[in-house]
Amino acid sequence: MPKLTDKTNFNMSLTNTINRSAITLLLLFLSLFVSLPSNGQDKPAAGAAGADPEKVAEGAKLFEANCKVCHAIDKVVVGPALRDVEKRKPIGWIVNFVHNSSKVIASGDPYAVELFNKFGKAEMKSFPELSDDQIKNIVEYIKSAPKVEDVKIPTGKDGEQTEAQSDEGGYSGIILILIIIVLVLVLVMLVVFLSVLKRYLKDKEEKLAEADQEIVNQKFDVLKVIKSKGFLSIVGIIFVALALRACWNNMLYVGVDQGYAPIQPIPFSHKLHAGQYKIDCNYCHTGVTKGKQANIPSLNICMNCHTHIKSGPRFGQDGIAKVVDAYNSNKPVKWVRVHNLPDLAYFNHAQHVQVGGIECKTCHGQIDTMEVVRQHSPLTMGWCINCHRETAVNGKDNAYYDKLLELHSKKGPLKVAENGGLECSKCHY
Ligand code: HEC
Ligand code: HEC
Ligand code: HEC
Ligand code: HEC
Ligand code: HEC
Ligand code: HEC
Repeated sequence: MPKLTDKTNFNMSLTNTINRSAITLLLLFLSLFVSLPSNGQDKPAAGAAGADPEKVAEGAKLFEANCKVCHAIDKVVVGPALRDVEKRKPIGWIVNFVHNSSKVIASGDPYAVELFNKFGKAEMKSFPELSDDQIKNIVEYIKSAPKVEDVKIPTGKDGEQTEAQSDEGGYSGIILILIIIVLVLVLVMLVVFLSVLKRYLKDKEEKLAEADQEIVNQKFDVLKVIKSKGFLSIVGIIFVALALRACWNNMLYVGVDQGYAPIQPIPFSHKLHAGQYKIDCNYCHTGVTKGKQANIPSLNICMNCHTHIKSGPRFGQDGIAKVVDAYNSNKPVKWVRVHNLPDLAYFNHAQHVQVGGIECKTCHGQIDTMEVVRQHSPLTMGWCINCHRETAVNGKDNAYYDKLLELHSKKGPLKVAENGGLECSKCHY
C-alpha cells in the first residue's frame, strides 16, 4: 500500500476537479439537448475544403435556380451528371457552352456534338445573362457538392420519394444523440470513480488532516442533494429551457404541415409538365386569376394532350394509362389535398395573384422543380400577417388604388397592413 498522507491534498483537489467537471458536463449536456434540431431544415453540408464558401454558396443558389431542372451532380436527369465536368472540359469551354450551347454545337466542336447526340438532341437552354464569374461559381459548387451516395431514386409506379427526404437534419440529430449518450456514460463513470475514491480515502482516515476528514466523511445524502440550491437550479434551468423550447415550437408551428408532400394516385409531375414542358400554371389551375380557388384541373384538361401522348419518360405507358382509364371510366381522380387552411380562414387567389401581382413561387416555392408537390410555406396566420406587413399594395395597372397611393405617397409605399390587411374580418368569416 502506498503512503498517502502527503498525497491527500492532491487527492482532495482531484475530487473537487471531478465534482466540477461533472457539473460542466451536465451543463454541456443541457445545452446540447436544448439545441437538438426540431426539424430537418438544417444548413446543407459545407463544401469541400479549400473552396471559397461564398462562391460555393452563390454557385449553389444559381444551380438551384437555373440548372437543377435538367441537371443533378451525380445522376443523369435531362442533361448529363455534372460531377467532374471541370476535369472533362476547360473552364473557358464550360463558360461558352453555358452561355450558348447551340453555338458551340453549331461550331462543330466534336465533344459538344457527340454529347448533343447522346442526349437525344435535347437542346440545353442558353444562359447569356449569367456572367463568367457566376458560371465559375456554379462550377465551384459542383466541385464541392457532397457526394450523395444513397440518393433514393424513385422506383414504384405509385410510390414516389419526395425530394424533401434527403435531409441532413436527420444525421446531425443522430450525431447529437450519440454525443449525449457518450456524455451520460462519462458522467456515470465519474460518479462511480468518485465514490471509489472516497471509499479509498476513508480507509486512510486516521492519516488525513481534519478538514480533509470532514470532506471525506460527508455522507452522500440524496435528499440533501435534491434539496440543495445547485441541484434545484440546474433542474429549474432544464425545465424552463425545455418549456420555452416547446412553447416556441408550438407558437411557430401550430398544426403546420410545412413540407407535407403526399403521394398522389397518379404520378403527375410538375417538374415534367410545368418545368420541362413549360406548361403555364393557369392552363391547369384555371381559377387563380378569377377567384378564391386555384382549382385542380379535371381530366378533360389532361386529355387535351394525353389522347395523343401515351407514354412518359419515367413510367412508360403505365403512368398515362392511369389517366386514360380514369377518364374512360368517368371516375374523378382522388387527388390528395396538399394545402389546406382551416375553415375559419379565408384566402383568395385572385386577390393575391391578379390584384397583388404575387408570383406562385413566392407562396408555393419552385413547384416547377417538384416531382411531387410539397407544401412550401407554413400557411399560419403569422405567415400571412408578416407578408402583409412587409409587402406594398400593388398599384401598377390598378386605377382603383391611384387616389389612395397618391394620398399616401409622402409616407413611402403603402403596405397591405395599412390598407386593412390586418383586420380580423378580412381573413376570418
Ligand atoms: C433545359 C435543360 C437544361 C438546363 C436548364 C441546363 N442544362 Fe446543361 N445540359 C443540358 C443537356 C441536354 C446537355 C447535354 C448537351 C446537349 O444536349 O446540348 C447539357 C450539358 C451541359 C454541360 C456539358 C456537360 C458535360 O458532361 O460535358 C454543362 C457543363 C452544362 N450543361 C451546364 C449547365 C449549367 C451550369 C446550367 C445552369 C446554368 C445548365 N447546364 C442548365 C440541359 C440543360
Ligand atoms: C398540366 C397541368 C398542371 C400544370 C401546368 C400545373 N399544375 Fe399544379 N397541379 C396539377 C394537378 C393535377 C395537381 C394535383 C396533383 C398534385 O398535387 O400533384 C396540382 C397541384 C398543385 C398544387 C397543390 C394543390 C394542393 O393540393 O394543395 C399547387 C400548389 C400547384 N399545383 C401549383 C402549380 C404551379 C405554381 C404551377 C405552375 C408553375 C402548376 N401548378 C402547374 C396540374 C397542373
Ligand atoms: C399540354 C400538354 C399536357 C397536358 C395538359 C398534360 N400533360 Fe401529362 N404529359 C405531357 C407530356 C409532353 C408528357 C411527357 C411525354 C414524354 O416526355 O415522353 C406527359 C407525361 C405525363 C405522365 C407520364 C410521366 C412519366 O414520367 O412517365 C403522366 C402520368 C401525366 N403526363 C399525367 C398528366 C395529368 C394527370 C394531366 C392532367 C392534370 C396531364 N398529364 C396533362 C403533356 C401534357
Ligand atoms: C399569397 C400566397 C399564394 C400565392 C401567390 C399563390 N397561392 Fe396557391 N395557395 C395559397 C394558399 C394559402 C392555399 C390554401 C388555400 C386554402 O386551403 O383555402 C393555396 C392553394 C393552392 C392550390 C390548391 C387548390 C386550391 O384552390 O385551394 C393550388 C392548386 C394553388 N394554390 C395554385 C396556385 C398557383 C398556380 C398560383 C400562381 C398562379 C398560386 N397558387 C399562388 C397561397 C398562395
Ligand atoms: C407573399 C405575401 C402575402 C402572403 C403570404 C399573404 N398575403 Fe394576403 N395580400 C398580399 C398582398 C400584396 C395583398 C394586397 C393585394 C392588393 O390589394 O393589392 C393582400 C391582400 C389580402 C387580403 C385583402 C385585404 C384587403 O384589404 O382587402 C386578404 C383578405 C388577404 N390578403 C388574406 C391573406 C391570407 C388569409 C393569407 C394567408 C393564408 C395571406 N393573405 C397571405 C400579400 C400576401
Ligand atoms: C391576413 C390574414 C389574417 C388576419 C388579418 C387575421 N388572421 Fe387569424 N388566422 C389566419 C389564418 C390563415 C389562420 C389559420 C392558421 C393556422 O391554421 O395555423 C388563422 C387562425 C386564427 C385563429 C385560430 C387559431 C387556431 O388555433 O385554430 C384565431 C383565434 C385567430 N386567427 C384570430 C384572429 C384575430 C383575433 C385576428 C384580428 C386581430 C386575426 N385572427 C387576424 C389569418 C388571419
